[in-house]
Amino acid sequence: MIRLDKYLSNLGLISRRTADKIFKSAEILVNGEQAKKSDQKIAYGDVITFDGVEIDVLENVYCILYKTAGYISSDEDEDGYLSYRNQMPDCPYVEMLHVAGRLDQDTEGLLLLSNDGRFIHQVISPKRDKEKEYEVHLAKPISDKDLGQLERGVVLDDGYKTLPAKTSRLDTNKKISLIITEGKFHQVKRMLEAVQNKVIYLKRTRIGDRTIDDLQPGEWKYIEKE
Ligand code: URA
Repeated sequence: MIRLDKYLSNLGLISRRTADKIFKSAEILVNGEQAKKSDQKIAYGDVITFDGVEIDVLENVYCILYKTAGYISSDEDEDGYLSYRNQMPDCPYVEMLHVAGRLDQDTEGLLLLSNDGRFIHQVISPKRDKEKEYEVHLAKPISDKDLGQLERGVVLDDGYKTLPAKTSRLDTNKKISLIITEGKFHQVKRMLEAVQNKVIYLKRTRIGDRTIDDLQPGEWKYIEKE
């Protein structure tokens, strides 16, 4: 059982400081009945109606967002950039979500989101070997030799040698698919720098079995845990 005001504040719908005032003025229903007080207990599976919108009381939420360029992977806006959360204002759980595997501000594609810390850890843990697939557009044509080098592992600017990766060519000699199992800072861009090339566009298309195939840029959807 959880407190109604705590759940609503986790959802970002009220602040706990002003909860009492809101409970007096707003219509908040639990399973169709007017909420009696702010510290009323609710359970997973209950339905809250807030501002006319029905919200299932869920313990854990899992979503995929097709992030577009210009948004950052932090939960808050920073340095003049908007958080990914601004791309999903219609998700009632948005304030509870955190990113499992960040993308740069100028990278597009699949962001996996949840409030389940254990799930997030499993996605990003290098021990889990979860494949992350990227569509990479390059400034210069890439040779078979460089693709082979990326597959065997390259040494990044900090001396770290990347784990084996998979590559394939896409429709031109300046576009490749790159599959890695790690998530070092700016990893894909730095791997291409290590073979004297430069990433000019980057999109993550897959993490494990999850893809963005059925989403348009900027769209999001709920997913099952797995
Ligand atoms: N590698 C990068 O360089 N940037 C990303 O956003 C993701 C992977």
